[in-house]
Amino acid sequence: MGKEGTKVAAVNVKELIKDLNRVYADEWLAHYSYLYMARTCTGMMYEDMGEFLEEIAKDEAEHAGELADRIQELGGLPLAIFSDLEKQCNAPYPKPPKSTSDYKGMIKVVMDAEAGAIDAYNKIAEKTKGKDHVTYQLVCHILGEEVGHEEKFEDLLG
Ligand SMILES: [Fe+2]
Ligand SMILES: [Fe+2]
Repeated sequence: MGKEGTKVAAVNVKELIKDLNRVYADEWLAHYSYLYMARTCTGMMYEDMGEFLEEIAKDEAEHAGELADRIQELGGLPLAIFSDLEKQCNAPYPKPPKSTSDYKGMIKVVMDAEAGAIDAYNKIAEKTKGKDHVTYQLVCHILGEEVGHEEKFEDLLG
């Protein structure tokens, strides 16, 4: 980010970059897990389930991209080492259930990950509100999509 851009963002930039990298890691872990489940799921509903999971997996990759852009605007760099994603995340890897036809298990994995994401973005929104409008706007946009993901899967529970 340019000098003026950094000055007007009245937040601890170093700390903010760390926070953003943590959600960046969460996004990649969710992306991998969701896409894995999309590609391996079996059973009666495998087509619908696969489609649902692939759709939100794509959203999570998009979120990671948006976060990477913002981290660099702030003068930082997104995590470069793959294994760091699991070390510097907010929540552990959303581990797919053992059975590839365990829809309830998959829904739970997604719901837990989404709840964690909602919490994490809420915290960053609180921190940046009225201080760093650009980051605030971005995290609110992502937060809205995470709420949508949670709702979509909640509906699947019937
Ligand atoms: Fe996301
Ligand atoms: Fe999500």
